[in-house]
Amino acid sequence: MRRTAQCPHRWAVPVAALLCAACWPALAAEPASAKALAGNALQGKAIYEAKCSACHSVDDNRVGPKHAGVVGRKAGSVADYDYSSAVQQSRVVWTQANLLRWLTEPEQVIPGQKMGYRLGVAQERADVVQYLATLK
Ligand code: HEC
Repeated sequence: MRRTAQCPHRWAVPVAALLCAACWPALAAEPASAKALAGNALQGKAIYEAKCSACHSVDDNRVGPKHAGVVGRKAGSVADYDYSSAVQQSRVVWTQANLLRWLTEPEQVIPGQKMGYRLGVAQERADVVQYLATLK
């Protein structure tokens, strides 16, 4: 009887409650940040026109290669564009994830590439990639 009253595990209940409380904000925050990074193609089109079109267009090569159909194609595969040999020889395929990385820091995705531009804001990257996905 006396042993039951002095159960050594009594501490476990408040400690467990505390741990759970510590987890709540993290659990609550996750869907919110995932949602913030969902791209918006319409916003992405405006960002593309403001920030990418100095060098790119959808249907014509300019300073950079044309972007029609870019999502899903191999890097460096527009036949009549003069890529750096780094991009041309890379085995990168432009998945949405790789495009997000490319726009964050091109040099980290394909060292030796020649695109001298980065998009510093994660939401803008998500929006632009969503827009690129609409270009067939
Ligand atoms: C200052 C000019 C410049 C700007 C601005 C620029 N790019 Fe580029 N981009 C290039 C060049 C040059 C290349 C070719 C890189 C190489 O061959 O190494 C390139 C390549 C790319 C590629 C690889 C395409 C392929 O066919 O493999 C993608 C994707 C891309 N750019 C997306 C973008 C997006 C999206 C933006 C706007 C956020 C942007 N670029 C802004 C110059 C630019």
